[in-house]
This record gives sequence, structure tokens and C-alpha cells, in this order.
Amino acid sequence: MIATGETRLAGVVGWPVSHSRSPRLHGYWLEHYAIDGAYLPLGVDPRHVETALRALPLLGFRGVNVTVPHKEEALGVVDRVDDMAARIGAVNTIVIDAQGRLEGRNSDGFGFMENLRHGAPGFDASRGAAVVLGAGGAARAVVAALLEAGTPELRLINRTRERAEKLAGDMGGAVRVENWQDRDQVLQDAALLVNTTTLGLTGHAPLDLNLDRLPGEAVVNDIVYLPLRTPLLDDAARRGNPVVDGLGMLLHQARPGFEAWFGRDPEVTQELRDFVAADLE
Ligand code: ATR
Repeated sequence: MIATGETRLAGVVGWPVSHSRSPRLHGYWLEHYAIDGAYLPLGVDPRHVETALRALPLLGFRGVNVTVPHKEEALGVVDRVDDMAARIGAVNTIVIDAQGRLEGRNSDGFGFMENLRHGAPGFDASRGAAVVLGAGGAARAVVAALLEAGTPELRLINRTRERAEKLAGDMGGAVRVENWQDRDQVLQDAALLVNTTTLGLTGHAPLDLNLDRLPGEAVVNDIVYLPLRTPLLDDAARRGNPVVDGLGMLLHQARPGFEAWFGRDPEVTQELRDFVAADLE
């Protein structure tokens, strides 16, 4: 592309930022829709997060995504925080208005739900219990989204129980904390199982979980997308459960930012999935 004075600017702020797939993803959409825009990787040292974010309106940016390790700090820098970002305790999308004010949002929960909606079309979160493994940043987004979608009972399990209790306390609602040792048993009668831990991620140990008690129609989702088919998803698919991989969450969470900055809700297609997946391994 050749930028002009009219070119709309956005990007992703992180440290390091070279691992981020977002420039590839947004770059694909910009080209696909022939939009006069640019989406840049912006490596910002943790010492300068506030200065860098405050400079964005001065430089003419419409907004940015925020990634590791700046998502929590960004919450305290922006001028306004929307409900979802406040509940999750992290900002992953900043939208800059005409007056140069920064609004912090979080689209991870949206990405999670949209991924389920597309990957498991008949699934209705309000119909049954959900089991969520993990209590990190990703789990916060997943739990907030499931509660908003009307999940009647959410069983939250984390190796470090106190962290799960903190998360449950922050979210309120129908969250029941269970013990990590009981993770096989709590699958009983569940309609959804989500892994948000790093177990199963390339280079990490696989998740040690016996699926015998999980109902055959329960949807299984791993938010880990490296590899795309984790041992958990393999296990679940072998016993006939519908499975949804984690790549779709990454793709769908990008949509609200793209729409706010570039004026169009972009589509997540098979071609886009293949394009981003080709760069993963
Ligand atoms: P993120 O913000 O991406 O969710 P995180 O905050 O590092 O990442 O959280 C990682 C999750 O994986 C946590 O729930 C962590 O459990 P702890 O809170 O007990 O640390 C979980 N996790 C990582 N390694 C694990 C292991 N070997 N066994 C069980 N859980 C593990």
C-alpha cells in the first residue's frame, strides 16, 4: 500500500509485539475490502505505555488493539472504560473519538461467543452448565461472556483455587468454584467445556482430563490454537463431541476494532482462517 494523508491508522500495542498475528489479520481485511488504511505492529516498552497511548490521538490514530503485557495497564490509562472491559479487568481494544478521547473496550468475550456461534451452530449457552478450566486473563473474558449469555451454572476450576475464587467474586453471578483434583467429576451433565489454561499449548504438558463423564453432545472448546487440534480436542472428537478450536476466537475478537476504525464489520471466512493458520506453525 502507499499511504496518503487520508489513510486511516490503527495497530497493536504490545511488548514484544512480533508474535502478534493481528497485523496479518487486519492487513488481510484491509486488502480484501480495498480500504485506505494501515494496521501497524507497535512495540511499546512497559515503561512507556501511558506516554505511547496518550500520543496516539496526536499522531492521528483511530485506535489500537492492546496485547500482552499491557492489557491491564491500559485500563488505567484510557479516558473511559466500557462495561465488559471493566468486568474483565483488561482492555484489548481502544477506540479514539473525534475529540481525541480514548475509550477502552474488551472484545475477547465477544470473540469467544462468536467463535462458538459459528463453530457449534446449535449451541445455546442458556441451556446448560458450563465448565471452565483456568483463571487467567482469558478465563475472565470467557466467564464474563458466558454469564452475559445466560449460562445458568458455571463451574470454574483452576490449579490455584484462590485465583478462581477471586475471579468468581469479581464476576458475581452463577459461578461455582471447584477443586482442580475434581475436574473429571465436574464434567457430569455439562453442556460446554472450555480450556483456557496453557495446558496443551505447543511446548507445554497436555491437559490431563478424563472425559468419560462428559455428555456426548457437550461442546468442547480449547482457546489454545497452537496447535489447532490440541490433545483435548482430539480426545473429544474421538468420542463424538462437537469441538471448536481456538483460532476463531482470535479472528472474531478482531472484528469490533476493525469496524470502529475502518467502518466495516469484516467477515471471518475459511480463506482468512487458512491465511492466518498458515503462519502459525
Ligand atoms: P492467560 O492470561 O493467557 O489466561 P495466565 O494468566 O498465565 O494466562 O493463565 C494461565 C492459566 O493456565 C492459569 O489458569 C494457570 O493456572 P494457575 O492460576 O494455577 O497458575 C493455568 N496453568 C498453567 N500451567 C498449568 C499447569 N501445569 N497445571 C494446571 N494449570 C496450569
